[in-house]
Amino acid sequence: MPLAVSSLYLHVPFCKHLCNYCDFYKKKFDQPKEQLDDFQQFLTQSWQRHSELMQDNGMTFGDIETIYLGGGTPSLWGKSGAEYFEKNILNQLTVKDECEFTMEVDPGTWTEEMLLAWKKLGLNRISIGTQTLDPEFLKIMDRAHSLSESHSLLKYCTENNWNFSLDFLLGIPFSNEKKRNIKNELDELLKYNPKHISLYILNARLKYPHIQNMPDDEFIREEYLFVSSYLKSHGFHHYEVSNFAIPGHEAKHNVKYWKSESVAALGPSGTGYFSLNDQEAIRYKWKVSKAEVETEKLGFQELALEKTYLSLRLSSGWKPEAIKSELMNQILSWQTLGYAEYKDETVRLTSLGFLMLDSLMDDLFKIGY
Ligand SMILES: C[S@@+](CC[C@H](N)C(=O)[O-])C[C@H]1O[C@@H](n2cnc3c(N)ncnc32)[C@H](O)[C@@H]1O
Ligand code: SF4
Repeated sequence: MPLAVSSLYLHVPFCKHLCNYCDFYKKKFDQPKEQLDDFQQFLTQSWQRHSELMQDNGMTFGDIETIYLGGGTPSLWGKSGAEYFEKNILNQLTVKDECEFTMEVDPGTWTEEMLLAWKKLGLNRISIGTQTLDPEFLKIMDRAHSLSESHSLLKYCTENNWNFSLDFLLGIPFSNEKKRNIKNELDELLKYNPKHISLYILNARLKYPHIQNMPDDEFIREEYLFVSSYLKSHGFHHYEVSNFAIPGHEAKHNVKYWKSESVAALGPSGTGYFSLNDQEAIRYKWKVSKAEVETEKLGFQELALEKTYLSLRLSSGWKPEAIKSELMNQILSWQTLGYAEYKDETVRLTSLGFLMLDSLMDDLFKIGY
C-alpha cells in the first residue's frame, strides 16, 4: 500500500527586481511571456518525472491538505498561471475542502483579477512580503515596492477578509544608527489585524553591500525578544522560532516540515520530502535548468538529529526517547539559563532559547547526542 503525501509546494522563480540580500533561486522577470512558457513547460515535464519518483519510493498523492506557492514571487504567475495550475496540476489531485492554500504575494505584483482567479481554485491564504513599514528601511532593503504599495495590499486583504500572513525582517543594516522604531512599525502592522506573522533575521553574505553596517548580535537579540514579547502581549502565540500566530491560525503547511511529514515539491529548485518510515526519508531538489531531481536518502542518525532540531523549533517541544543523566544535566542547565522549560518529559524552548537554537544543538553534539 503506497504512502500518501497530502501537501504540495510549488516554487515560482521570478521576481520583478532581485533584492540584494536574497539567496533564494529566482530570475528577473524581464521577458514574461517566454519565461512563463519555459516555466510551465518545466512543470509539465517535472509532473511526469515526479510521478515516477513517487512510484519508485512507494508514495502517492492522498487527499491534499495544504498547497503552498512560494518563490520568488508567485503572484507574478498571474491569471494565466491559475489556468495552467488548474488544468495541469489541480485537476490531477483530490483536494480536501478545508485545504490550506497559500500564495506569497509581494506588494506591487498583484491585481484583484489575478487573486480572484486563484481564489476560485481554492486560494485562501496570502503571505505578504512586507519586511518593514519604514520607507527609509524599505529602501535600504532594496525592495522593489513602495510603502504605499505595502499599505494598499494590506488594506485590500483586511477589507476583503483574506486570511493573510506578513513577513517582517529584523537585523536590517543601519537599524541602530538610524534608530529603527520597531514598536511603531508593529503598531502599524497590527492595525491590519494579521493572524500570522513570520519574523526573519537578515542573513547576510560577505559580499552583501551593507555587510559593514549590520547591527551586532546584542542589538538583534533585543529586537527579537522585544518583538516576541510585544506580539505575545497582543494575543499571538510564538509557536515556532520565526513564526507567530493568533491561536488556530498556525501555518499548517509549514508545520508539516517541522513535524518531518511528507511534502511534495515542484518547480526549479523546489525541495520535497518523503517520509518513508521512522528510519528513512528521501529529500529531493529540482534542478533549475531541466526537469530533473537530485535525491538524498536520510538514514536513522540523520533523521534523529533533524527531528530533534525541528521539534526544538516548535513550541510543542522535543520529547527525547530516553534521558540519560548527561542529557538531563544539559536540559537543567538550559533551564537555569532561561533557554528552556522541562515539563511532562518535554523540552520546550523559551523565546531566548529559540534565538540560541544553533548553540543548543552544539551543546547536544558535545555530549554525543
Ligand atoms: C524568498 S522570500 C519569497 C517571498 C517574497 N518574494 C518576499 O520577498 O517576501 C521569503 C522570505 O524570505 C526572506 N528572505 C530572503 N532572503 C533573506 C535573507 N538573506 N535573510 C533573511 N530573510 C530572507 C524574504 O525577506 C521573505 O520574507
Ligand atoms: S522579492 Fe522575495 S524572492 Fe524576490 S528577490 Fe526579493 S526577497 Fe528574494
